[in-house]
Amino acid sequence: MINIGILASGRGTNLQAIIEAVEDGRIEGKIKIVISDNSDAYALKRAEQNNIDTQYIDFKSFKNREDYDKKVIECLKEKGVELIVLAGYMRILTPYFIKTCKNRIINIHPALLPSFPGLHAQRQAIEYGAKVSGCTVHFVDEGVDSGPIVLQRAVEIKDDDTEESLAERILKEEHQIYPQAIQLFTKGRLMIKGRRVFIK
Ligand code: GRF
Repeated sequence: MINIGILASGRGTNLQAIIEAVEDGRIEGKIKIVISDNSDAYALKRAEQNNIDTQYIDFKSFKNREDYDKKVIECLKEKGVELIVLAGYMRILTPYFIKTCKNRIINIHPALLPSFPGLHAQRQAIEYGAKVSGCTVHFVDEGVDSGPIVLQRAVEIKDDDTEESLAERILKEEHQIYPQAIQLFTKGRLMIKGRRVFIK
C-alpha cells in the first residue's frame, strides 16, 4: 500500500473519484492528506467528509513560491507520501518541487496532450475546430502539461458542444483514467523511459 498525497484548489470531483476508487479497492493505496492553496476549496470538504487529513496553506504567509513549495513538501513528507496527485491544483510547481519529487508527481489535463496545454483546454479545442479532444494523465516535469504521458482517453467534439458540455463529457473520462493511472503507479507498473511511459 503506498501513501498518496493530493493537491487540489477547487471543487474536487477528481479527488472524489479517487476517494471512491480507494474505498472499493480499485486503488491499493491510502490517501494520507489533501492539501489546498484555497481555504474555500470544496475538495477540502470532500476530504473531511471522508475522514482524510487536510491542510490549507496560505500563499500569503510565504515570501516566494519556493518557500511555499518547501512547506507543501514538508507536509507531504510528514505523512510519508510517496505519490503526489495534482487534482485541479492551480499553482505551477517550482523546479525545486519537481526536482525533489522527481517522477512521483502526476497530473490530469482535460485535453489530448500535447494539444491544448494550459488553461481552458476545452475551450481551446472547440475554438481550434478539433473534432476530438479528451484527457491525459501525465507525470509532471518543469514545463506546463509537458511531462511523460501515462494514459489518455479520447472524447468526440460535437457540433453543438459548448465549453461546459464538452468539459462535462471529458470529466466523466477523467474520473475513470485517473484512478486507473494511480493504481498502475501504486503497483509499480509504470516505467518511464525518456518521454515514453511503458505499462508493465
Ligand atoms: C479538471 O478538469 C482537470 O482536468 C483539471 O482541473 C479540473 C479539476 O476538476 N486539471 P475537479 O476539481 O477535479 O473537479
